[in-house]
Amino acid sequence: MPRHRIAWLPGDGIGPEVCDAARVVLDAAGFQAEYLDGDIGWEFWRREGDALPPRTLDLLGRTDCAFFGAITSKPGPEAARELAPELQGRGLTYRSPIVRMRQDLDLYICLRPCRAFRGNPLNYREDIDLVIFRENTEGMYIGCEFARIPPELAALPAAKAIPPDAAISIRSVTREGSRRIVEAAFQYAVTHGRRKVTAVHKANVLRATCGVFLEAAREVAARYPQIAFDTANVDAMCMWLLKNPRNYEVIVTTNLFGDILSDLCAQMVGGMGFGYSGNIGRNYAVFEPTHGSAPKYAGQNKVNPLATVLAAKMMVEWLGEREIASDIERAVADVVEHGAARTYDLGGNASTQDVARAVAEAVRFARAVR
Ligand code: IPM
Ligand code: MG
Repeated sequence: MPRHRIAWLPGDGIGPEVCDAARVVLDAAGFQAEYLDGDIGWEFWRREGDALPPRTLDLLGRTDCAFFGAITSKPGPEAARELAPELQGRGLTYRSPIVRMRQDLDLYICLRPCRAFRGNPLNYREDIDLVIFRENTEGMYIGCEFARIPPELAALPAAKAIPPDAAISIRSVTREGSRRIVEAAFQYAVTHGRRKVTAVHKANVLRATCGVFLEAAREVAARYPQIAFDTANVDAMCMWLLKNPRNYEVIVTTNLFGDILSDLCAQMVGGMGFGYSGNIGRNYAVFEPTHGSAPKYAGQNKVNPLATVLAAKMMVEWLGEREIASDIERAVADVVEHGAARTYDLGGNASTQDVARAVAEAVRFARAVR
């Protein structure tokens, strides 16, 4: 009997092909699981008016964790136009399914490791090895937005600087939300032998929201005297990261800043072909490559599947299968370093499946010598 039950959500665009590649590697690694397919993505938005239908939410409730590929999303007016005729004009609004899963399942940690594999021709510097803890449920992402400022809000004295036709997005940061993400970052530092945590903010301007975040960060840091702690404004952080990326080990920040910084850091270690995430809550998690659905490459068996393979590695680690996880990571490192198969982004002409097979081969070798 397989030990783990996984909701398998390839989505659309390149999602299915990179997920297939990850499966080739998981199977070669001897990972035992039952995979239950779930509907998610643009097609379900068009046909049913819901990109994350209730039956898929049920499936999440019946599984240990989910593995997610990618989905296409389009701006509001375009999304509305693509709905099936019988669904038009009902006021349906598109909400990103991944953001919904993060919020509805309270997956408050977005863990994004950025490690420069030796020999990767795309490395910005060698030896970069940092992880980002992005708060994943609040901040600018709560979806409290107005195309025009509501009159009740405009009436507040504090809102007098806002022109009446302004669009508004509300940023909400709680003490508890801040505390738990910073706590997760410190716990990670302790359990993974990291020496320093850096909290990133913009508290000199966003005094209320970043003030709460920074205060919570300082309180948590005081309980971990063995881990060095520093703070940086997000703008300066971008500069420092490019200047001295090796100075950073664990970065913790709010939702939008984490979204932005994690793409910057992914690019330093090879680009979106290497960016992967765990959306992790207390009892459930969703693992995914950080890249999008790249519709123009869909079905071409061309894109780099390593981000998805690394997301699979993170999933099996979270499920407690440490040896399998380290076999997979070692295999990826080996394939990157020795160039056994490289997709176009790495200057090669291997296909998605070629890379999957090369990693699978290296995994079998890693298992054999373990
Ligand atoms: C990410 C993505 C998502 C985000 C999008 C697809 C909503 O950019 O996971 O980083 O902004 O969180
Ligand atoms: Mg992003």
